[in-house]
Amino acid sequence: MPQFNDRVTALQVPGTRQFANKVSQYENGINLTLGQSGFDAPDFIRQAMAEAVEAGELRYTHNKGLIELRTAITDYTAKRFKMNYHPETEVLVTNGGSEAIDSILRTILNPGDEVIIPAPAYAGYEPIIHLLGAKTVFVDTTHSHFVPTVEQVEAALTPKTKAILFNYPTNPTGTTLSAEAIQELVQLLKDKDIFIITDEIYSENVYESQHHSFIEHPEVRDQLFYINGLSKSHAITGARVGYVLAPEELIDQVTKVHLYNSICVATPSQYGAIAALTHPASEEMLTAMNKAYIERRDYLYDRLTQMRLPVERPVGAFYILPDISAYNADSFQFATDLLEAEQVAVVPGAAFTSYGEGYIRISFASTMEEIIEGCDRLERFLKNDSMN
Ligand SMILES: Cc1ncc(COP(=O)(O)O)c(C=O)c1O
Repeated sequence: MPQFNDRVTALQVPGTRQFANKVSQYENGINLTLGQSGFDAPDFIRQAMAEAVEAGELRYTHNKGLIELRTAITDYTAKRFKMNYHPETEVLVTNGGSEAIDSILRTILNPGDEVIIPAPAYAGYEPIIHLLGAKTVFVDTTHSHFVPTVEQVEAALTPKTKAILFNYPTNPTGTTLSAEAIQELVQLLKDKDIFIITDEIYSENVYESQHHSFIEHPEVRDQLFYINGLSKSHAITGARVGYVLAPEELIDQVTKVHLYNSICVATPSQYGAIAALTHPASEEMLTAMNKAYIERRDYLYDRLTQMRLPVERPVGAFYILPDISAYNADSFQFATDLLEAEQVAVVPGAAFTSYGEGYIRISFASTMEEIIEGCDRLERFLKNDSMN
């Protein structure tokens, strides 16, 4: 048998999907692991994609994406953040946020480089960093309401730091950075030879407060890769459309990695993305989805608090991360026992780096009925557990 690449052999399959796969085997199972909206894709997006197929729009596009889509992205961003990016030179359309993350990291990292990441963190970052022979340096946010302090970030900097990767609102914690926190981090990071990567894939799913971003700060524009996409905001995870905004010099380098990897994003998906960003019904749809997520979050937060599980109230994304360590310090075992006893699937916190150990991630992208039933079963499980 020929040998595989050593770094690939060392990779683990993500913990996020394991429990979703297992729960589907139970007839009565409740799946609270979803990392995608339970809503169907909006009609106007489906229609735009179908029309593109019908019109035979099935050829390659420009490597960076259709210029109409890049213009829609820069217009949308200018409206949200009052920051202008040029559609010809400063945007790259990618195969989801996932490919944006992969292509950016492959563009900037050499073996031995360090990437600072606040943790608990999304499980999709570290494996790519390891594939490249680079190192993750996690900043523990579990004692500061899942938000890194500027002192912690400063202490994590070394001469080997190549980049710092933020994800706000965060998967799996649902917390976000305030305008003040971003401002402080900008003051620390500006003028340093460090890239800032900001994964804002959940930035449309922000509830009471207004979303703020590093992209609003011209001081760090030259070192910033801004990632967003339509998977989460528009309930089209399967269309695979994400994008990167960055200065021309940075985009030129990432585009090389992207084009050797995949040439371009599927053309009908790009037409769907144009509709998502420009259709007049889009904003209304976002508001309606967020209203439903707020109701589900509030219900879930109240129930978890009544169960006396320590928990932060999420302000964005669609995840909540209660602390279950009083019941079981091993979150994988807790999730396994919960699944076997009550047929409820959640994701063990340890899937989101070791800093997630002792927590479980529950998704409120699931339906209200599932959330209610899931909470009833979790409550029963905890009662039975404490009696044993
Ligand atoms: C934080 C974060 N970034 C990026 C992604 C990738 O999303 P996509 O590739 O569908 O845009 C996800 C998906 O769960 C995520 O949670």
